[in-house]
Amino acid sequence: MRFHNKRVVITGGVGGIGQALIQLFSQQGANVLFTDRSEEDCAEFTLTLEARGTQVDFVSADLRSKVDCENIIDTAIDTMGGVDILLNNAGVIPRGTILETSDDMWFSALDINLTAAFYLCREVIPHMQKNGGGAIVNTSSTWGLYPGPGHLAYCTSKAALAALTRNLGRDHAGDGIRVNAVCPNEVDTPMLRSGFTRRGIDPDNGIQELGKTVPLGHVAKPEEIANVIAFLASDESSYVCGETVEVTGAKPVYG
Ligand SMILES: NC(=O)c1ccc[n+]([C@@H]2O[C@H](COP(=O)([O-])OP(=O)(O)OC[C@H]3O[C@@H](n4cnc5c(N)ncnc54)[C@H](O)[C@@H]3O)[C@@H](O)[C@H]2O)c1
Repeated sequence: MRFHNKRVVITGGVGGIGQALIQLFSQQGANVLFTDRSEEDCAEFTLTLEARGTQVDFVSADLRSKVDCENIIDTAIDTMGGVDILLNNAGVIPRGTILETSDDMWFSALDINLTAAFYLCREVIPHMQKNGGGAIVNTSSTWGLYPGPGHLAYCTSKAALAALTRNLGRDHAGDGIRVNAVCPNEVDTPMLRSGFTRRGIDPDNGIQELGKTVPLGHVAKPEEIANVIAFLASDESSYVCGETVEVTGAKPVYG
């Protein structure tokens, strides 16, 4: 029960990594408030969890909205009495070179992958300061550190999120607030699978073939990323702050 009575906010809760996070943190004793865009999807996932004996709350929100972002933290404070851990996990992946990137693709990447984390952190940090500390884990990407081809808006937003993480880690270490980022490479979630579908490849085959290119022999399962996020959110990583932790299965990301 690593997270006994810890109050945890998780964004992107109905996505692949988000579901794994909610289950892991709940199983380890946390009070979880999760959020995602569709109220219907949030309610459906909550019912699935209830059927398995897990109780969580949600607030649906569009992370492109500043008001919605601030409301997530305000709701968490109202319902849970505070926030000890914030996991900025939600993300979108517009695909294209600069010539293929529309204004909407550009701004959706920056708004959801970067600015939402800025709003959520700015809203939660004063509460964490009052409580004497906390932990924030942002989900960046290896592509935020070593840009992959043809994903300009995504790579730029994830690079900026990595920079935001390092800045916050340094600025608020003295408050007892540890801010870190996980940088996964490939993870078997709807986000990765949508890329195969888009290219006319069966996602199951795509994941299997891609797994052969990973020295550890498979594409990461969402739980394998959730485990690293949980480590960064837990007291076990008490001396880790302002870091961007790569999780690649030993696959070289660049070159
Ligand atoms: N899957 C991968 O290969 C991979 C690799 C590196 C990093 N990541 C990162 O991991 C994180 C989780 O992604 P995932 O793989 O679970 O993908 P996913 O698509 O399964 O989940 C992303 C979630 O974010 C939510 N979201 C998107 N836009 C939103 C908005 N405007 N408001 C509220 N919620 C919104 C989606 O509804 C979805 O539930 C993302 O930040 C992603 O960039 C994923």
